[in-house]
Amino acid sequence: MIIERQQDVTPAVLEVMNRTRDPRLREIMRSLVTHLHGFVRDVRLTEAEFRTATAILNEMGQLTTDSHNEMVLMAGSLGVSPLVCLLNNGDQGNTETSQSLLGPFWRLNSPRVENGGSIVRSETPGDALFVQGAVRDSAGRPIAGAEIDVWHASPVGLYENQDPEQAEMNLRGKFTSDADGRFWFRTVKMIGYPIPTDGVVGRLLQAQDRHPFRPAHLHALIVKPGFKVLISQVYDPTDPHIDSDVQFGVTKALIGEFVRHDEPHPTATDVVSPWYALDYTYVMEAGETVLPRPPIK
Ligand SMILES: [Fe+2]
Repeated sequence: MIIERQQDVTPAVLEVMNRTRDPRLREIMRSLVTHLHGFVRDVRLTEAEFRTATAILNEMGQLTTDSHNEMVLMAGSLGVSPLVCLLNNGDQGNTETSQSLLGPFWRLNSPRVENGGSIVRSETPGDALFVQGAVRDSAGRPIAGAEIDVWHASPVGLYENQDPEQAEMNLRGKFTSDADGRFWFRTVKMIGYPIPTDGVVGRLLQAQDRHPFRPAHLHALIVKPGFKVLISQVYDPTDPHIDSDVQFGVTKALIGEFVRHDEPHPTATDVVSPWYALDYTYVMEAGETVLPRPPIK
């Protein structure tokens, strides 16, 4: 097809996309071209803007390293990653789900901890937090023998691998659910933290007067053969950014209750009041058990 007018471009490209052998890739490329061309027409993209756009994509690739992923950060900042998560979980987007984003800080091989143990491995400020978790299937039956990896930022808002003050693997641990599908441990109450803002995402946030904060959350990655790996984050509703997460990760199903206690702790005598208790039920869906690639080492 020889192109005569701007209107001819999209049909010409779609005709080529139609020849894609793999049916799924064909579907994706057809839709991508349709929406991309539609977007260019919609905003009447100028030549200067187009050059800026390609430079931005290049820069995001160049900023991505072993310990930082600007693409993932942008996908979250535009709400794409939460949309993909919610479309593919909770019975294909029809019911609520415990699934959330993996985030950039999961590490393989966190140390095993017995139920009731602590994941505080070096002097860490903050109020004591006692977590009680339950792992269930979608019918509400307990899942015993599930492996639960937990990790969270410190009360100063840094993960141990970002912070020389914290011991290796501080605030990380791996538990196994008991016969009732339960696991429990002690830690410290985390706070929210800003995402890195020294790249393209930071400039976008600034242009939109957006703050860079994620509300306080507890990460979990739960593995049990026969179930889809559950990647979850439980959020603290008292966090000032609970309804303005820069990564759009907070859903109603992921809001936990961090109950404040001012009375002495019933068993742990070293606990200073106030202390907090979180009780949360994680629901796993049947499916293939595929572990994600750790984003950092
Ligand atoms: Fe996080």
